[in-house]
Amino acid sequence: PASTRRLPHGGLAVGGVSLAEVADRFETPAYVLDEGEVRGRCRTYQDAFPDADVLYAAKAFLSRAVVRWVREEGLGLDVCSAGELELAVTAGFPPERIVLHGNAKSPRDLEAALRLGVGRIVIDGPSEIARIAAAVGPEGHQKVMVRVVPGVSAGGHDKIRTGTDDQKFGLSLTDGSAQHAVSRILGQPQLELTGLHCHIGSQITEVKPYLVALRRMVGLMARIRDAHGIVLPELDMGGGHGIAYRPGEPALDLTALARRLRAELVAGCGAARLAVPRLLIEPGRAVVGPAGVALYRVLAVKHTGEKVFVAVDGGMSDNPRPALYGVRYAPRLLGRASTAGPRTATVVGRHCEAGDILAADVELPGDVHPGDLLAVPVAGAYQLSMASGYNLVGRPAVVAVHEGTARVLVRRETLDDFRNRDVGD
Ligand code: LLP
Repeated sequence: PASTRRLPHGGLAVGGVSLAEVADRFETPAYVLDEGEVRGRCRTYQDAFPDADVLYAAKAFLSRAVVRWVREEGLGLDVCSAGELELAVTAGFPPERIVLHGNAKSPRDLEAALRLGVGRIVIDGPSEIARIAAAVGPEGHQKVMVRVVPGVSAGGHDKIRTGTDDQKFGLSLTDGSAQHAVSRILGQPQLELTGLHCHIGSQITEVKPYLVALRRMVGLMARIRDAHGIVLPELDMGGGHGIAYRPGEPALDLTALARRLRAELVAGCGAARLAVPRLLIEPGRAVVGPAGVALYRVLAVKHTGEKVFVAVDGGMSDNPRPALYGVRYAPRLLGRASTAGPRTATVVGRHCEAGDILAADVELPGDVHPGDLLAVPVAGAYQLSMASGYNLVGRPAVVAVHEGTARVLVRRETLDDFRNRDVGD
């Protein structure tokens, strides 16, 4: 995070709090979230996109405190389950500022969305139209959007590319199913179509794919106007804004994205003689990712004929991303100055499989030993939100740091938590 300060003897402070002290006080593994950094990133978005609605994508990481921070910074929210929705609303988030996504919304998702009065439901497939209309009922009213697949390939890994027709999300622009869905929605009086949505992928570091997608979305809006005589007031361009996980890696330039999206939108709408719709965006990773640091304690060091393995007290149950997407992180020794030269080591977790690797072939001081602390920066997004109960290790605590104080946001998962859920014998 931007608030990171070096301390003497290899220490680091985030949000005015020593990370080594956090590790001692709250134990490891722990995830540290810099409140000031999350809020600062929200403000960066608000400043860069003054004419847009910025919705935080809750899937990146959600807790009641995060709900409050993004609300206080004036953002809306993107959720994709009744769980995320109920947590946000019970933490005080205004439901009308929430958008519900999902390619397979459960009856519980829809029930919660309608009961709580969610602002928009994003229709992801043809079968949802009649289903949502029936759930809303003939006397009811619900604002909806349509998720369109614009035929643009972008994203940091095949598993997080969603802009082309070979994946499960959305309705194809290319084969006409998006436009067909629009016609059917317009035939449902209780559904109010407010606009189109697309999310072409995640961890995108270039502006270009967004511009191509936007151009195609504006084209579709013009065709909808020509076919139905209606001008849709909203265009949601999703999230996917890429961040640097290691020093020197590229990140998406948000100012350039904002400026060029706006220019493209105004130009495209001008050419089509279309009123400029309100822009929505849904960043997740870029809001919380750089604000998080994962803290681990080294439990074992092993030299094999081939490699040096540094094993820590967490692993793929708190961060499945290296195993899933081959993402590379830059762990560093924390809280001790080392004079040993660098050595190439592979940081592994404590889980029962060889693929439990947190950082392959990274440089660490040659004298790293059990008891040392490691800090892994850029750990705030899609780590804890994707954490599992594998091997009953338990999910780590989340500690917020802000203006020199540290407090637990989410407590560590204990054996009692597992035992309480285990209700049969
Ligand atoms: N909007 C929609 C409809 C989405 O599906 C997503 C992410 C976002 C917004 C936010 O995207 P972001 O700005 O965070 O990239 N687990 C993967 C990332 C999956 C993203 C899923 N959808 C990872 O760890 O890289």
